[in-house]
Amino acid sequence: MKRIGVGVIGFGTIGAGVVDLLQKNGDEITRRLGAELELVKVADLDIESDRGVDIERSKLSTDVADVLENPAVDIVVELVGGYEPARTFVKRALANGKSVVTANKALLAVHGDEIITAAEEAGCDILFEAAVGGGIPILRSIREGLAANRIRTIYGILNGTTNYILTEMQEKGESFERVLKEAQKLGYAEADPTFDVEGVDAAHKLTLLATMAFGKKVSFESVFTEGISSITPQDIEYAHDFGYEVKLLGVAKFDGDRVEARVHPTMIPKNHLLSAVRGVYNAIYVDADFLGPSLYYGQGAGREATASAVVGDLIELARDKVAGVKGRVAPLSFPLSKMADARIKPTGDIRCRYYVRLTAVDEPGVLSRISGALGKYEISIESVVQKGRDEGQAVPLVLMIHEAKEADIMAALDEIMAMKVCLGDPVVIRVER
Ligand code: HSE
Repeated sequence: MKRIGVGVIGFGTIGAGVVDLLQKNGDEITRRLGAELELVKVADLDIESDRGVDIERSKLSTDVADVLENPAVDIVVELVGGYEPARTFVKRALANGKSVVTANKALLAVHGDEIITAAEEAGCDILFEAAVGGGIPILRSIREGLAANRIRTIYGILNGTTNYILTEMQEKGESFERVLKEAQKLGYAEADPTFDVEGVDAAHKLTLLATMAFGKKVSFESVFTEGISSITPQDIEYAHDFGYEVKLLGVAKFDGDRVEARVHPTMIPKNHLLSAVRGVYNAIYVDADFLGPSLYYGQGAGREATASAVVGDLIELARDKVAGVKGRVAPLSFPLSKMADARIKPTGDIRCRYYVRLTAVDEPGVLSRISGALGKYEISIESVVQKGRDEGQAVPLVLMIHEAKEADIMAALDEIMAMKVCLGDPVVIRVER
């Protein structure tokens, strides 16, 4: 029987999950593939710690060359994460004629062009299903299942840590800081949670999704990114009163000319499918011209779910090797040569609905001055709620605003803040349907 050699770099949580899966489901994979996926070598700087999997000592190495230069390795799995040395490892594997599977969204979002070019030049394949949505096969769906469609809109809950935090804040009414501490204790949030809570991880994933869905090169820097650290339980409660949930959403839209790609806390109607996504789960909602809307839901992180995506990629590459083909499907869904740089819509040109919470002085005439400033920019108010009554003191004033242009909202808010009838900064949450 044909054997396809697999080398893994990075024996952390996911690496151990991959080894475990290959051991537990090896027979079934061989039955599907008609060939054997053979784990040849696993490289890591630490080969002493117990990973909870049984692996022959001879298969472990502290020298990455035992994977990258090993003639018995056909496919390299990169699970180191981050930019370097992962970028060097991936390029070396490709230059050595090995196909690559990686879960590294940061590397692909920032250096994707360079990495895919290296793969094309080497005539090797690279797959990265686990980079977006953990175990959810969303990239394969975009590349293959939806390939007949033009995709116009993607909404994604792309980060489990922040979805867990927002769900807990909503269910327990607790502050962001408190829930984050709890999440860190439970191991749901990293000791340094910046990438997750500030939306960077979701922006990496949205960069890949938008690029692959629209067939345009979307740069990571062009994705507008705002995290959840300033969301309060109060805003989540007001959102509920208006019939919405607050989610950290990745939003990507293509109007046939310009692409908008943004990650920010977003209010979505309670009856939207994505509102039901709670805790650490991820979901991606795709609107395509012939299929219409479809939803992809599952575990966006974790040892088993991510290993499922990594080994799924291994099987795809192994199937091609068995069939003697390569380059069958472009990694980014379109060949690089057919992809132009995306024309990015500036944030100021974005149009959506808005939730605005002001801390306004409670005295006659204040609301009319605020609505006058909004009216000047042709911004129409859907509803206003003043929470409490405290003459002469500051009270929360919550405005739901009909669809408006972001630049107009910001200009109107600048004028409102200059009137000195509001305290603190306004809280602005974008609203999508
Ligand atoms: N840190 C990510 C999350 C998982 O919280 O969803 C890895 O992409």
